[in-house]
Amino acid sequence: MEIDVFTLFPEWFQWFSAQRHVRNALVAGTSIQCVNFREHTPLSGGQVDDTPFGGGAGMVLRVDVLEAALRARYDADPVELRKRRRVIALAPGGRLLDDRLVDELAGEPALTLLCGRYEGFDERIVEHFASDVVSIGRYVLSGGELAAMVLCDAVFRKLPGALGHEESAAQESFSAALEGHPEYPHYTRPAEYRGWRVPEVLLSGHHGRIEEWRSARSRERGAAAEGPREP
Ligand code: 6GU
Repeated sequence: MEIDVFTLFPEWFQWFSAQRHVRNALVAGTSIQCVNFREHTPLSGGQVDDTPFGGGAGMVLRVDVLEAALRARYDADPVELRKRRRVIALAPGGRLLDDRLVDELAGEPALTLLCGRYEGFDERIVEHFASDVVSIGRYVLSGGELAAMVLCDAVFRKLPGALGHEESAAQESFSAALEGHPEYPHYTRPAEYRGWRVPEVLLSGHHGRIEEWRSARSRERGAAAEGPREP
């Protein structure tokens, strides 16, 4: 998979790319390349943003700056680009990233991630250049970079060979194998600690009963995590 990240802070991704599980994905044929859109701005002084029309606090990323950066990277009109490549704007109000979306993105040959800063993107970027708008939760981060890393981390875990055991990813929390429920609880040695015993069934060696127990705990957790119904 080929991932391009458009950001004003490419150095953040050096740390990310150096982490072992990320490096493993990169060795296995995935790439992450950063494009600093400040380097492609047609405006003087490295300007990339501007004050919002209509007034208000903060700065807004300019549509002409984003277009220049996308053209520099792809030599194509961004309006055409999004028809053949997932171009994802990271913004707090976007589609919530969940296991289904992660699976969907893991099936793509290439992703372009646009990281906004300040108050965000000029809406025309989202409307005309992006194929998707994705959010990692209903709270506001100071930029899309951390969200882009969260997305990459989750996607990389789905790629073949990313985890030690092929089974791990399929059986993970929220996966179809667990019917969308969180994962069951895990235990390891010691079997007893401060009087806290590991559930006997897990020590029984009885695979059928272990499966049953795990599936029941997973369903229980799913019900608990949903919490009280909204009015
Ligand atoms: Cl994708 N961006 C920003 N700036 N804040 C967020 C987010 C994204 N997802 C949750 N909060």
